Amino acid sequence: MSRATGRCRDLAVSVPREEAEGIRELACRLGALDRSRKIVVREGRVEIPVLREIPGKKAILQAAPRFYSRMPRLDELLRGRIDDSGLKLLPRGWYIVGDVIVVKIHPRLQAHRQMIGEALLQMYPRCRCALSDSGVEGQFRQPCREVIAGGGTKTIHRENGVVFKLDARRIMFSPGNLMERTRMSRLGRGEEVVDMFAGIGYFTVPMAVHSRPRRILAIEINPLAYAYLQENVRINGVSEIVQPVLGDCLEATPEGRADRAVMGMVGITDRYLTAGIRALRPGGVLHYHQTVPSRLFPQRMADEVAKAAGEQGREAEIVQVVRVKKYSPGVVHGVADAVIW
Ligand SMILES: C[S@@+](CC[C@H](N)C(=O)[O-])C[C@H]1O[C@@H](n2cnc3c(N)ncnc32)[C@H](O)[C@@H]1O
Repeated sequence: MSRATGRCRDLAVSVPREEAEGIRELACRLGALDRSRKIVVREGRVEIPVLREIPGKKAILQAAPRFYSRMPRLDELLRGRIDDSGLKLLPRGWYIVGDVIVVKIHPRLQAHRQMIGEALLQMYPRCRCALSDSGVEGQFRQPCREVIAGGGTKTIHRENGVVFKLDARRIMFSPGNLMERTRMSRLGRGEEVVDMFAGIGYFTVPMAVHSRPRRILAIEINPLAYAYLQENVRINGVSEIVQPVLGDCLEATPEGRADRAVMGMVGITDRYLTAGIRALRPGGVLHYHQTVPSRLFPQRMADEVAKAAGEQGREAEIVQVVRVKKYSPGVVHGVADAVIW
């Protein structure tokens, strides 16, 4: 027993399997769970490592405690609490936005989603909350997310010298677009830019911070995303450059003034291609994002831009079509860069 902390190394509560989850939760709630040691199964009983005695529960000194030497793996943390077939379905990947973990959980593991969330928080002690993610939907690209452990979904995400404030439960933030956000941050110096699907400022703010365009008109239709856009423009000190606009880019995009038009939407972007091309002065650059079947990538996107320009009596010089990320099985999220004459 260490006098200083009153902590007793290797103390554990040993219980039958069916009681294990209840004890682990109780230890968690009491802040008594020893996260440096593994939960082990010994002679058919589960040993829950604890920092101190749990009232009303007999404690033992573990004969052979097992310590985590490195970040525990999710399956290690959940062994003995989820059966082997379930362990095979555990998420292999997740991402962190600010201090919020976002994870997709297999339908067959939904009953264990809180346990998985808490295990992830155990792996990332600096994170406050874990969200289960079941995709994005609608024109606002609103995520379908639920808090599965911890709390507080409003967070601050730092990336490439930029600070993004957002509510990770209600606003999307795609890790797969990191490279594209970084690429956009290097463009636009001294230009008149229009960001037609600005969101919380995914492209607008990095571009303003790193390339200082003359002006960015950042249009966003979702009032919640627009509020975060305004806040992110303020906290990154680019209010001189960025003019946020709450509205539909179909109406709010000025004609013939922009040196650069960013169309960072997917799925329905083609409906706005005419407005994007019309926004550009001759020689302006278009960044047209879209999701296309992999077998039609990149030609389909180049053809769409050329056709839309042609319909306005203009010419599109396709500079490149870049693969941003795999969007879903057989579907690519790409961006076509074109000079519009
Ligand atoms: C997919 S998100 C932006 C993603 C961003 N490009 C990124 O890199 O993560 C698209 C944004 O466009 C907004 N939006 C959708 N339709 C719009 C429209 N007609 N006018 C303005 N904004 C629109 C949505 O609310 C959403 O915030």
